[in-house]
Amino acid sequence: MCGIVGYVGSQSALDVVMAGLKRLEYRGYDSAGVAVLADGGLATAKRAGKLVNLDKELSEHPLPSAATGIGHTRWATHGGPTDANAHPHLDNAGRVAVVHNGIIENFAPLRAELAERGHELPSETDTEVVAHLLAEEYSACADLAEAMRLVCRRLEGAFTLVAVHADAPDVVVGARRNSPLVVGVGEGEYFLASDVAAFIAHTRDAVELGQDQVVELRRDEGVSVTAFDGTPADVRSYHVDWDASAAEKAGYASFMLKEIAEQPKAVADTLLGRVDGSGTLSLDEVRIPAGVLREVDKVVVVACGTAYHAGLIAKYAIEHWTRIPCEVELASEFRYRDPILDQQTLVVAISQSGETMDTLMALRHAREQGARVLAICNTNGSTIPRESDAVLYTHAGPEVAVASTKAFLTQLVACYLVALYLGQVRGTKYGDEIGDVVRDLSGISGAVERVLGTMDPVRELARSLAHKNTVLFLGRHVGHPVALEGALKLKELAYMHAEGFAAGELKHGPIALIEEDLPVVVVVPSPRGRSILHDKIVSNIQEIRARGARTIVIAEEGDEAVVPYADHLVRVPATPTLLQPLVATVPLQVFACELATARGNEVDQPRNLAKSVTVE
Ligand code: AGP
Repeated sequence: MCGIVGYVGSQSALDVVMAGLKRLEYRGYDSAGVAVLADGGLATAKRAGKLVNLDKELSEHPLPSAATGIGHTRWATHGGPTDANAHPHLDNAGRVAVVHNGIIENFAPLRAELAERGHELPSETDTEVVAHLLAEEYSACADLAEAMRLVCRRLEGAFTLVAVHADAPDVVVGARRNSPLVVGVGEGEYFLASDVAAFIAHTRDAVELGQDQVVELRRDEGVSVTAFDGTPADVRSYHVDWDASAAEKAGYASFMLKEIAEQPKAVADTLLGRVDGSGTLSLDEVRIPAGVLREVDKVVVVACGTAYHAGLIAKYAIEHWTRIPCEVELASEFRYRDPILDQQTLVVAISQSGETMDTLMALRHAREQGARVLAICNTNGSTIPRESDAVLYTHAGPEVAVASTKAFLTQLVACYLVALYLGQVRGTKYGDEIGDVVRDLSGISGAVERVLGTMDPVRELARSLAHKNTVLFLGRHVGHPVALEGALKLKELAYMHAEGFAAGELKHGPIALIEEDLPVVVVVPSPRGRSILHDKIVSNIQEIRARGARTIVIAEEGDEAVVPYADHLVRVPATPTLLQPLVATVPLQVFACELATARGNEVDQPRNLAKSVTVE
C-alpha cells in the first residue's frame, strides 16, 4: 500500500499535501515525494526513507508557493526504496508528474515500447511508464482527464493514479482500479487521497469513486467523474463521521481490527501478477537460477513467532508438492545447533518486518555455510531481503499492529507459491496441477471475506471468556500450527495462559490439564481430506468433553460429525486440506482481539512487545 494525496484550491498545496502524507504514513514509509504547479512549471522534491527526510529536504530547498499539488508516501513493490524510485515520477520533459499505489502488471512491455520511442526511464519502478504515456496522450489532446482515460485503458493490474500537468495549473486528475481513492470536497478546494485521513482536517464531505473511474478536480469548476471510456459516472457523496485519528484506522477501533479486515485484499494482492494466463508461476523476484533450485535436496525454514508458524505450515506444502525434505527451525535456535547445510540447501527466511535480528543472524549463518537463502518478506528493501539471494515479497501493505494477522496469511500464500514454484521448476508438479492449486488460492480472498462476515458469535464468546485464566488450542496436520498461532495471539494480546498442542499428543500428558469448563479450541481438518485425521480429532474432542472441557470447534461448513461434541461451533468455508489455515486462523485472530479488548488491553501495542525485534 502507499499513501497518495492531491490538492487544488487556495491554500498552500505543499502544506496540505505534506500534512495529508503525515496522516497516511502508516500506509508506507519507504520514501516520499511531492510535486507542485508553480510559475508555469512543475517543482518536485522526493527522498528515500520516512517523511521526515522529505521534510528536511524541503526546509533546505523550499519549493515555490503553489495552490495545486500531489504527494506520495511509498510502500515499495517494484524497485527498492531509493530517491530515484520515490514518487512522483515525471516524463522526460518534466511537464507531467504522477503518483501511484498498486501494481501495473504490464509495465515491462509498456516500458520497452516507450524506450523504442526514445523515452528514457531512469527508475526501476512500474509507475514511471504512466508519466511518459500521459505526456504522449496529453500532447495530442491537451486534456489531462482524457489523457488519463486513454492511458488507463492500456494498463493491467491494480492501480490508483493521481497526476498533474504543468500546462493545467488548476487541475488534478485521478484514476482507480482495485485500489482506494477518495475525493474530499471543500469550499472552493478539492482533495484526492488514499483514505479520508489525509483531508479530514479540512472537510468531512467526501465522494466515493468506483471501479475503473477517472476523476477531474478543477479549482473553479469542482469535481467531475467518468468511466474509463468517458461516459459520465454516478457517484455517491457522503459525510465522514470519524475524527482525524480514527480516520487513520479507516474508522476501525484499532489497527489490528483494520488489518484483520484487510486480509481478503492482502491475500489477493499477494497473488496478483504471479501467475500467467497458462497457470505458469512467474516469481520474478526469486532470482535463484532454476538449475540451482533443481539441485536443492533440503529446505530449511527459519523464522520467529507467527512467521515460524507460517513455516510449520509451509513444511506440509513443500514436502507434499516437491518431495524435498523440509525442516522448520526457530531462528533463535538455528545456528546454535550446528545445522547441516551445504550448497544444495535452500534456506527460506520468513519475516514481516525484514529486520528481526534472530532471523537475520540465522540467514547469515546459512550463507556462510554455502546455502542459498530465499526471503519471504513484507517490507521492501529491509535488511533480510537485502542479505538474501532472492526474495518473494508479500503485498500485505504495512502492518502496524504488533500482533501479526494479515502478514501471516500472506506469508502462507507466499509459502504455497514457493512450494509450487519448486514443484514447477523440478517437474514434480505439472502445469494443470499448479493451475488447480492456484485456482483454489484465488478463491481464498472471498472465503476469508465470508468468514469475516460471520464473526459476531466468536466476539460474543470471547467476551464471555474474558475472565478465564487459560485456553488450550488443539489441531492436527496443518491445524497444529494454526493451534499454535491461535495460542500465541491470545498470549500476546490478552496476557493469559494459552497453549497449542498437536491433538494426538493430548493423551501423552496435556490431557491432565483438562478440567470442568476449561475452554479448548479445536481446529478440525476437512472430512473430505484424509478422513482418518478428521475421525481422530473428533475422538479427541470427545475425550476432552468427557472430562468437562468447553469445546470451541472450528470446522468446515457441512461437517456434521462434530456437531454433537461442540459447545460452540465456528464454521469456515470448505477448502483443500493444505489451504485450510488461511480460513481457520481468522476466527482465532478475532477471538484473541475481542477477548483482549474485553479485558481492557491496548491491542495495537501489547505490553512488553515491539513490532520488530531487532535484538537477539
Ligand atoms: C506475532 O504476532 C508477533 N508480532 C511476533 O511473533 C512476530 O511474528 C515475530 O517477532 C517475527 O517478526 P517478523 O515476521 O517481523 O520477523
